Amino acid sequence: MSPTSPIVVLDSGLGGLTVVKAIRAALPHERLVYFGDTARLPYGNKSAAAVTGFVREILSFVRPLQPKHVVFACNTATALAMPALRAAFPELTFSGVIEPGAKAAAAAAGAKERPTIGVIATEATVRSKAYERAIHRRRGHARLLLQPAPSLAPLIEEGRDARDPLLRLALKQYLAPLIKRNIDVLVLGCTHYPVLKGLVARMMGEGVAVIDSADRCADDVARRLGAAGLLHPGGDSASANCVDAPIDRERLRCFVTDDAERFASLAPRFLGARVATPEVVSPERLHAATERDGQAFRQAG
Ligand code: DGL
Repeated sequence: MSPTSPIVVLDSGLGGLTVVKAIRAALPHERLVYFGDTARLPYGNKSAAAVTGFVREILSFVRPLQPKHVVFACNTATALAMPALRAAFPELTFSGVIEPGAKAAAAAAGAKERPTIGVIATEATVRSKAYERAIHRRRGHARLLLQPAPSLAPLIEEGRDARDPLLRLALKQYLAPLIKRNIDVLVLGCTHYPVLKGLVARMMGEGVAVIDSADRCADDVARRLGAAGLLHPGGDSASANCVDAPIDRERLRCFVTDDAERFASLAPRFLGARVATPEVVSPERLHAATERDGQAFRQAG
């Protein structure tokens, strides 16, 4: 592992590309590998055991690339799988999106003694109470309102955008209880939601700070790599991208478990740039990678 090794970014689907966008802006020289588990999304209605199993397979698959860092660009996977997987991959360093999001929310609440902070997220993230813990550690007196929004990520993955009536209706229903309670801050607790940030801000009205954790997560990655002496030195040979061409595979290599064309066609909405058609890794290939990993581990032990 060295400063020129890649950073792996993973999510259930397209949402984690909002984090890739922020990392590319903060760290333009880094080589990124993205994994979207499109065959098995949504993660948000699955159990901790299922999500941990999926992410374990993804990590076994990317391990041979010797990533210098792995970003869980998925709140659900951060909450449900990240703590359990640290022990299984001791040579990898992980970071997620919940701590940076909670930090930003606590800061946005300002000087108010008892701010009301709302979070919309998947059902699994809400159930995990990860946001309660992370926010209360910083603002012990904050009132928290956690709102599950189970249909949002699937609707966004379908390609529906802020103009879509079905998506607007779902969002209106999910936000109504938060609007009623006059919250001060709203955290977008799923990496799919930043594509709706403008609409959410309009629906919530002025005076509500809407937080998306992508930028904070990118700052956190930059800080971790800097502290470890692993920032890419820059001046590499990968060609600078011309505006309309897909991002060079050397800079952003994408893998998905299904439907590569759909991923490539929707990616610009999340990333603000085009990607080359991703490589498809079937769930069976992922199982095989995990098996091989397990065998090597048993032999080494
Ligand atoms: N983007 C993911 C998150 O941040 C999950 C969406 C899903 O697969 O349910 O939670």
